[in-house]
Amino acid sequence: MAKPPKSELPSHLPLGEKSEGRFYRKHILSVKQFTRSDVEYIFTIAEEMRTMVERVGTFDLLKGKVLANLFYEPSTRTASSFTAAMERLGGSVIPINEVRYSSVSKGESLPDTVRTLECYSDVIVLRHNETGAAATAAKYLRKPLINAGDGAGEHPTQALLDLFTIKEEIGTIDGLTITMLGDLKYGRTVHSLSRLLQMFNVKVRYVSPELLRVPEHLREELLAGNLPFSEHANLDEVLAESDVLYVTRVQKERFTDMAEYESVKDAYVITPETLTKAKEQMVLMHPLPRVGEISMDVDADPRAAYFRQMEYGMYVRMALLAMVLGKA
Ligand code: NCD
Repeated sequence: MAKPPKSELPSHLPLGEKSEGRFYRKHILSVKQFTRSDVEYIFTIAEEMRTMVERVGTFDLLKGKVLANLFYEPSTRTASSFTAAMERLGGSVIPINEVRYSSVSKGESLPDTVRTLECYSDVIVLRHNETGAAATAAKYLRKPLINAGDGAGEHPTQALLDLFTIKEEIGTIDGLTITMLGDLKYGRTVHSLSRLLQMFNVKVRYVSPELLRVPEHLREELLAGNLPFSEHANLDEVLAESDVLYVTRVQKERFTDMAEYESVKDAYVITPETLTKAKEQMVLMHPLPRVGEISMDVDADPRAAYFRQMEYGMYVRMALLAMVLGKA
């Protein structure tokens, strides 16, 4: 498709030609590194990205830049949305989606693998099964690394896209009651989203089986940060007051005892019947993949936002890539 003349682009677009900005050459490891103003800035850029994609599809902001997409764990959405984000910005991607076909299978260490990819690329996206792996890898790098999920630790880009989804769907974040359901212990998206929500004026309701409650260290952090939250085992206690219901998968791969997994795996299932007790305007989210926690019969309900959530993710990742490469 031909590039539109410059005059057709929105005049307020804050996407500069110069390499600078507040995240230029910064790693994105944890949501703890962001302020509320950072988050709002990311959302402004993500909205501009959405406008641009709707107008022109692909544009040349990151032309000549290369992203190394390094995944030690399975991924559909995160890997492909980073690829789509980079390609829509005119850049290119080195995909390492299956580390078993790389030298990792020969025993190469994470520091060596990321230093290798740094020679060929401008930014590295890393998903790893160990908590803290992104921070460890970043210590060896001069170029920015983006954490795409480290074990049961964090998933900062998912949390940003989750929050962006809430903002786009409801129009505001302040004043909402946000309920998170499912695996709150191992679910890294829950950990990152909870930390981000501390910056806003919200109430959080956590619903999980006893075994999968929010980990103690996070609970202490949230108490210290004055996030108003409560914990429940029964969704009915909080469903009617929820503006957002954020459902998660029980993270089978993090369990050491499979009998424990079996005992909690089907704890909650959202069905059309569940939604009869929810607000008319509630937003139903899920980072996906789902493995039974939300019945497919719910997909046609306008409150089901999980497919839209994936699309918002691409705009947020476009914003982050542009920012760390100094083009926003
Ligand atoms: C999540 C993850 O990998 O933490 N998936 C994703 O990135 N959308 C959630 C999950 O795997 O359950």
